[in-house]
Parts: sequence; C-alpha cells; structure tokens
Amino acid sequence: MTKLNRRLFIVSGLAAAGAVTVPNLAGAASSRPRAAAGDPFGLGVASGEPRSDGMVLWTRLAPKPLDIGGGMGDRTVAVEWEVATDEAFGNVVASGTEQAVPGEGHSVHAEPKGLQAGAEFFYRFRADGFISPVGRTRSAPAAGSTPSSVKFTMASCQHFEEGWYHAHHFMAQDDPDLVLFLGDYMYEKQSGRDDTVRGYVDFDEVDNLAEYRLRYAQTKLDPGLKAAHAAAPWLVVFDDHELANNWWGDGSGWPATRKQASFQAYWENMPLPKAMKPTSPAIPLYRRFQWGTLARFHMMDTRQYRWKQAPSADCDEIRREDRTLTGAAQEQWLLDGLAQGGTRWDLLGQQVFFASRDDDGAESTCDLSEDSWDGYQASRRRITQGWVDRQVRNPVVLTGDVHRHWANSLRLDYFDTDSPYVGAELVTSSVTSGGDPGSSDPPPDYVENGPHLNYVGNQRGYVRVTANASELSAEFMRVSSVSAPDPVDVTLGVHERFTVLDGVPGLR
Ligand SMILES: [Fe+2]
Repeated sequence: MTKLNRRLFIVSGLAAAGAVTVPNLAGAASSRPRAAAGDPFGLGVASGEPRSDGMVLWTRLAPKPLDIGGGMGDRTVAVEWEVATDEAFGNVVASGTEQAVPGEGHSVHAEPKGLQAGAEFFYRFRADGFISPVGRTRSAPAAGSTPSSVKFTMASCQHFEEGWYHAHHFMAQDDPDLVLFLGDYMYEKQSGRDDTVRGYVDFDEVDNLAEYRLRYAQTKLDPGLKAAHAAAPWLVVFDDHELANNWWGDGSGWPATRKQASFQAYWENMPLPKAMKPTSPAIPLYRRFQWGTLARFHMMDTRQYRWKQAPSADCDEIRREDRTLTGAAQEQWLLDGLAQGGTRWDLLGQQVFFASRDDDGAESTCDLSEDSWDGYQASRRRITQGWVDRQVRNPVVLTGDVHRHWANSLRLDYFDTDSPYVGAELVTSSVTSGGDPGSSDPPPDYVENGPHLNYVGNQRGYVRVTANASELSAEFMRVSSVSAPDPVDVTLGVHERFTVLDGVPGLR
C-alpha cells in the first residue's frame, strides 16, 4: 500500500471499509450508489489531452449539482488524486493534491507527468471523505513509435432536452483510445420543441458564469455521458452553443464579459490543462496531438478568429481573400503542422461542414451557409491547396454541427467536376439534437448534389473510426432512439461504413 493510500484510508470511512480485505477501493467506490448525501463527485470524472508522458485528469466538486454554486459555497477544498496501472489501484504510479477553489467552479485539472507512453491507466479522486468513480485513460504512444492501430469515436451536438445520451453509453462500450467531441456540448437556450424528453432548469438562456456552470452540471448528470468521459481520454473543441447561437469572432457583437464567462465555464467543465484557463475574453483552443507515427490530430477553432466583412450575400463577398474561418495565425499554424510529415493520417478535428453542399456550383447561386466552409471559399482553398502542396499523405477532415451523418470525398475545386480528389471528410451526426427522426424526415440517402458527396443519414449517433497503416475505416453508428430513457431499450447499429486507403484520396 502506498503512503497516499494509507493516509486516505484514515480520512475516508468508505476507503477504510474497502481496506478490510484488499486495497480495492475501485470496487468499493464504483459498486456503491452515488447518491450519498454530500458526495461531491456526482458530475463524474474525465480525462483528456493525452500526451506521451501524461494527460489531464478532471473532476468538479458539486454535492448539489443543480444549485447555483453546486452546494460548495466559498470553501477551498483539497482534492487528492492518484493514477494506477490497474483498476484495483495496487500499483499507483502518480499521485498529488489539487485545490478546488470557488473561482474555478471547484473544478480540478490534475496533470500527471512522467507516465509510461502508450499505456492504459486508472485514476480517481478523493475529497471531503468521498472517493470518486474510477476513470480509465491512456497516454499517447511514444514519439516516433508505430502503433498498429488507433480507434477513436467522434460526436457532437447534444441538446440535453432533446434526448438521452445513449450514443455516449455505446461509445463507452466501444473502448476507444480517444473520444473527439466537436462542439455543442451544451446549448445556451431551451429546445423549444414540443417533443423534449427532459428539461433544463430555470433559465431560458444562460448568459453569465453561474448559469453556464449550472448548464454544464445538469448536462453532466446524464449517465451515458459520465460513462464515456470515464472510459477514455477526450479531445474537445467548442462550437457556437457553448456561448450563443451562431456567434463568431470579435465582430459578432457578443459582450466580452459573456464570452469570457462562457470560455471560463467551458474550461472548468472540460478535461483541459491549467495553461488553457482563460485570462481574457479568449481561450487558446487550437492545438495538436501526436499518436506515434500513425496519426496526428489538429484540433481547430473556427469560431474565435472567424472574420467576414458582411453576410455572404453575393459571390464577391464569399470569395474575399480576407474572409476567414481560422484567422491568419491559425491557418499558418495548421499549414505548418501539415508540413511536418512523418505521419500516416493527418486528422483535422473541427466544427463546421468542409465540403461544398451547393448543388450546382456556387458560381450560380452564391447563396451559401454563413456557418460552413462554403461561405469562406478562399479560406478553404488555401488550406486544401496547402495540404496538396505539402504532399500530405492522408488528410481527413472530422466535422460535427449539422445533425446528420455525412461522408464526403473532397475535391480541390468544387466547381470543376474533373478536379481530383484530395482528401475525405467524416461528419458525425448529433448525439441528441433534433431528437428521434420523425416519419416525415427524409430517410438516409446517397446524395447526388455534386460528385463530392457520398452519403447522408438523418440518424442520432456517432462515428467510430479505426486507422492502421493501410486504411482508415469509419462506421456511422445510429441509435434506435434518444427518447427511450433506458439504454437497454435502445439498439445500436452500423448504418454505413466507408474506408480510406493509404495514399488514395477519397472514400470507398
Ligand atoms: Fe448543434
């Protein structure tokens, strides 16, 4: 038994009970209902940002999750954490203490270092005499190593009122190496639909730190979401609803105080490192992760640095060279990252639809979405041409936002049907947003509007991706219902499967 374990046994009656037989606190903690009065761990645990020597471990103390302040008041609480190589915590390899403070919503962002690369770990927290549920996480493979495969899931858009997070329940069962969440983790407004399955508390629209915190707390009470956070490290980016519908850049008119409150709440509630804590109405969201020589994840931010002169009312406007989704600095950062080479799969994790959805070429209509790359054509062209010029071996764009599954082969020039394929895009549908597809919704289909679109499916679910040296395969997963409360009444199915072969741009 480690020194930390012994000390914690003294402060925790629960732990002491577990210690009578074997030091298997994990079993004691996880087999017990989580409803004990005063238990601060009702929001679960999470991990993220896997590096080859560590990751971020997260929890947030909230004994009364649906109260403003979470029932913590103005206390500062010491939270102990430990990391082990086994679920029974017999081999603890890292431990420490973090202070959970009111100014950070009593969130904890522990950052163990010096861990073995490419390995699985278990972690847990203790505070106020309680032990948290146990989470499973992993470190990234060592730099230069060649993992045989990587399995990740991707998800986005989970309006709490519009369904249960069964997609997360099934993702947890998939045992992925990573989970990518591509935005709209929560929604600032109530649904407004008449077929909602549960309700947000109190606020029609959240717009300050206390309310944003409460929104995240309620979201995190979903058992499926808790399971997925506890199952694997996550890589997260936000889209618009974490702040407000369709916000963008500095020019969209949202008050700086609200932006900072939204970013602060996002940081507090995600497994993000201390270095990303906002200190102004900005958060450093775009960043890169390396998975040995097999994969590189470029996690992008198409919200904060978005710039346009005017709405995309005409062709000249949407083609302005200075109209941008990424901003110049992030664009250069992305192109520099794509130039690094030495990696089989370059994966661009981002928020909004990349391929063109215009059916007969924007030359004719120019009536394109303000909220997709179609509306920022020079920006898209610079990035696409950029990866072609840098001879990126296998670029694949990973997208959320549109509440549909889509699979797209990407072309260099969307207005030239002879233009070669230069990459692929996988778009994950919503976890819940939109609710169960109704009988009036169009069935899943293979679309004809342009040669670069292969598939669209109006289902709730997620995308499951496995990549190895020779191919990347994506399974578009659908859940049978988001309105049935119990996952045992829900089935999971593969609706469609696409493959990208190494060195062959486009989908099969
Ligand atoms: Fe959404």
